[in-house]
Amino acid sequence: MTDIGVMNGPNLGRLGRRQPEIYGHLGLADIERDLLGEFPEVTFHFFQSNHEGRLIDQLEAWADQGIRRVVLNPGALTHTSYALRDAIEGLELWVVEVHLSNIYRREGFRAHSVIAPVARGQISGLGALGYRLAVRYLLDEAGVEA
Ligand code: DQA
Repeated sequence: MTDIGVMNGPNLGRLGRRQPEIYGHLGLADIERDLLGEFPEVTFHFFQSNHEGRLIDQLEAWADQGIRRVVLNPGALTHTSYALRDAIEGLELWVVEVHLSNIYRREGFRAHSVIAPVARGQISGLGALGYRLAVRYLLDEAGVEA
């Protein structure tokens, strides 16, 4: 069994109800259910919080448990959180950054990610499919020692 953390940041607990024209009609629970169905070989650890520090606490807890592969949608913290970035770097996590919307086609402030330089890669604009693709990558490609 491979352990993968799926972490969602601020405002993503309201997916499905929050600006569905941008973020789609699926709720976070739908996305999580989809991953469970698609990857029965993975032990998923799901976490969502609106609080930066709680996200970092959870990344530390996962790292302490040996869970280093993480699909991360940091929400708006993508654009601002050096603390989250430092946690990913310091804990040596294998992170795929996921955005439901295409952050490069929206307001200017969204086009910059402070997380991207410490992520293995980024998927932006493919909706909920981005989470699946990120898990696929982490299963197939990310360091076996992780
Ligand atoms: C988002 C994009 C961010 O700019 C925004 O703040 C979000 C969601 C996305 O999934 O498209 O909360 O990360």
